[in-house]
Amino acid sequence: MTVKIFDTPDVQDFLKTIAGFDQAGGNERAKQIMHRLLSDLFKLIDDFDVTPEEYWSAVSLLNALGGQTQFGLLSPGLGFDHFLDMRQDAIDAEAKRTGGTPRTIEGPLYVAGAPEAEGFARMDDGQDPDGETMWLTGQVRDVDGTPVAGAKVEIWHANSRGGYSFFDPTQSEYNLRRTIVTDADGRYTARSIIPSGYGVPEGAPTDVVLKSLGRHGERPAHIHYFISAPGHQHLTTQINLAGDPYTWDDFAFATREELVVPANRIEDQGEIARRELDGPFAEVVFDIELARTDKPELQTRHARPRAKEDEQDASSQLAATARV
Ligand code: DHB
Ligand code: FE
Repeated sequence: MTVKIFDTPDVQDFLKTIAGFDQAGGNERAKQIMHRLLSDLFKLIDDFDVTPEEYWSAVSLLNALGGQTQFGLLSPGLGFDHFLDMRQDAIDAEAKRTGGTPRTIEGPLYVAGAPEAEGFARMDDGQDPDGETMWLTGQVRDVDGTPVAGAKVEIWHANSRGGYSFFDPTQSEYNLRRTIVTDADGRYTARSIIPSGYGVPEGAPTDVVLKSLGRHGERPAHIHYFISAPGHQHLTTQINLAGDPYTWDDFAFATREELVVPANRIEDQGEIARRELDGPFAEVVFDIELARTDKPELQTRHARPRAKEDEQDASSQLAATARV
């Protein structure tokens, strides 16, 4: 079939009408973006001769993705999260904000409000029978090497089956999620368990999309971080544990060379006793360098709907309203 109608005046006028160009109300940016998005999709339908069957099966897949709140899962798989990071890196470079530990994607599985501790926290609830003890530690430093005391280090990761508490209802509340405030030397330490890699649920709509591309939905074992301190740029990052088969084949494109960290098995009795552990463990060391900034808007994480964060926002807004 060679029918092409995209460039006809009828279709071009139609697109302007759909995007509300002839309407006084609405939002100008929404109109511009919708017009561009629909134009690109209409042209695609023309160029690829998309059939009604194909179109309606795509609508059905979108419904399935939305129905299972999987757009946040598919988004990293289709590279949007990493693309936004690449743009942010370029924006920082242009503003001469260079140096510091690289950012990488947040992912869809953060939960706000984890318990906070000073210097040290145990993150696991001791209920994972396959969990290998992990000693996770590091120092937060300025780009000139000065330790940053009082930095907020938020850490979250999966259990030995790749599941995250809150999203995995079999785990206790805030299991493997903690906020640790760095000590006077800028150090944080966590006792936890080595996470396993995460996989998109088999047969889920996200999996259907990835399989149609001949791709898998696996992530290497990884540990998420938010790090913030006054006068410094907020950092969203992750470490990937070295040696995982998916370290360099992450479906979410989050791996960066500087963020691949080994887990070193330690069996020395003295080292075990010094940490008050009951057997061999794996040590993971991740030091973090924060770029400086005076801009308050760069010192906090960007807004995004997050589990339990809205409730907190809503309650603080309520408290603010109550004070008026
Ligand atoms: C996804 C899961 C993760 O644990 C993560 O860090 C990033 C993405 C996902 O399911 O898309
Ligand atoms: Fe993750």
